[in-house]
Amino acid sequence: MLPSRPPNRRGDISALSSENGLVAATVRTYIPGTMHIRRYNEPDLPAILALCRQEGWPSLIENPLRANRVLTAPGVTTMVADEDGMVIGFAQIQSDGEVQAHLSLIAVHADHRRRGIARILIERGLKEAGGLRLDLITDGAANFYGALPHIKMTGYRLYPGYTGPDRYEPGLEWEDGRKVKKA
Ligand SMILES: CC(C)(COP(=O)(O)OP(=O)(O)OC[C@H]1O[C@@H](n2cnc3c(N)ncnc32)[C@H](O)[C@@H]1OP(=O)(O)O)[C@@H](O)C(=O)NCCC(=O)NCCS
Repeated sequence: MLPSRPPNRRGDISALSSENGLVAATVRTYIPGTMHIRRYNEPDLPAILALCRQEGWPSLIENPLRANRVLTAPGVTTMVADEDGMVIGFAQIQSDGEVQAHLSLIAVHADHRRRGIARILIERGLKEAGGLRLDLITDGAANFYGALPHIKMTGYRLYPGYTGPDRYEPGLEWEDGRKVKKA
């Protein structure tokens, strides 16, 4: 279990103006103390897997070797928040390096939330990865993303070629990515 630390924040400094549908957001600055935002290295893997376990995310945990490849793959930028040598948050971004970027994973240890760590991971991560904007899907962190400058769109997670029952519509089946007509 990671030790908890008191919040470590400073006040508001500015507000963004609304333009072309971009949602205005209040920008706060945080003084991160001894926290260091840096690129992921292989020795960070156990701490990242612990964060995934905390969230009940199985994809990385079930195969650590694959997880390391996932976090270091071409086009992937993985950033960690390191406080006194302890990884307390991470973000994985995929980017073409110039325009489009996608936030695939982000988590901050439960004892260290609301210190601005996720915001900094995203800001620094996009700078490192390259990109004009960051797309993502979420089913549980709308309060966090809504606090960042954003445009709301509809997101989908696709499973091309899927065969099996539909997740939402009882009685609907898919076969090789095509809807199977009900009798
Ligand atoms: C979502 C998550 C990454 C946010 O991390 P964080 O470091 O606490 O976020 P920040 O401190 O940078 O938050 C920035 C702003 O977002 C908003 N925010 C963040 N978490 C919030 C919450 N739980 N409720 C309401 N607003 C929230 C606040 O406006 C906050 O600024 P403030 O603290 O000055 O009010 C973290 O809660 C987490 O790891 N959750 C579990 C994993 C998860 O859901 N990941 C996203 C999957 S899509």
